Amino acid sequence: MLVCDCNEVDFDAVKAAVKKHGNDLKAIMDETDAGTTCECCLEDECDKVDLPLHAAIKRALEEV
Ligand code: FES
Repeated sequence: MLVCDCNEVDFDAVKAAVKKHGNDLKAIMDETDAGTTCECCLEDECDKVDLPLHAAIKRALEEV
């Protein structure tokens, strides 16, 4: 499931970062590069990705 198109970050990568950093958005962005280019995936309405970053973090927090 794609979370960031620019940097080809998938949900599993976000989940791994959430395991390490919890809800720390900046640390997750630093670790995965998600959201660091066009920033579309930081918007909940981004249509370039399957699951925008904030929703991906929320889901990952529920799963870890
Ligand atoms: S889609 Fe994530 S930075 Fe562009």
